[in-house]
Amino acid sequence: MDKAQQDAMKKEAGIEAAKLITDGMIAGLGTGSTVRFLVDELGRRVQEEGLDFTGVTTSRRTQEQAEGYGIKIVNIDDVDHIDLTIDGADEVDANFNGIKGGGAALLWEKIVAVNSNKIVWIVDESKVVDVIGKFPLPVEVIPFGWSHVFKRLDERGYKPVLRLDAEGKPVRTDENNYVIDLHLERIDDPQALAEDLINIVGVVEHGLFLNMVNEVIVGSPDGPRVLT
Ligand code: 5RP
Repeated sequence: MDKAQQDAMKKEAGIEAAKLITDGMIAGLGTGSTVRFLVDELGRRVQEEGLDFTGVTTSRRTQEQAEGYGIKIVNIDDVDHIDLTIDGADEVDANFNGIKGGGAALLWEKIVAVNSNKIVWIVDESKVVDVIGKFPLPVEVIPFGWSHVFKRLDERGYKPVLRLDAEGKPVRTDENNYVIDLHLERIDDPQALAEDLINIVGVVEHGLFLNMVNEVIVGSPDGPRVLT
């Protein structure tokens, strides 16, 4: 599948998911290239159809894009609930275990997700897998003492790689933390891995989102498919 085909499927999933947002809702808006299509469509509906909803964003990037369309964005601490969050994912299996954080937004994404009444993921069909883990699992760590966290991950055989930007500097998340990607190839027991990772001091969050999502909209050449 080339990038143009993949983008077409991402766009299709984003446009389909935008239909779920209705007047008066408080909606969580995820991060990534698939969500960009979602926000484009929501922006169009706000401007052309007068759609009136409030957004809570999972990254500064999404906030900027949404506000550029005139979408009302509020801080997560200014709402008492989120009706529905729509986000992308890097991988998802049949049990709705997924990997997120390819765009380094995993921490805010997980905070928004756990405070949402309903979660929908939008993916192109290449993201639906039998076993998660081929996509490197992102782990967000505090910069202070990061090399010791790295060593612990390495000793466990998790094949850690510090994520660097184009200039060779550590990528910084919206919370100014680092990201270490684990090149595991396959994750047979995601629950055990999640528990192990979160118990390492210095780890803020990991990109395993286990059984949190209610629905996955998959863009495919035959049109969007909804997995429930
Ligand atoms: C960002 C994420 C994204 O949702 C995930 O990486 C998917 O991105 P894309 O839609 O660009 O493939 O978790 O932290």
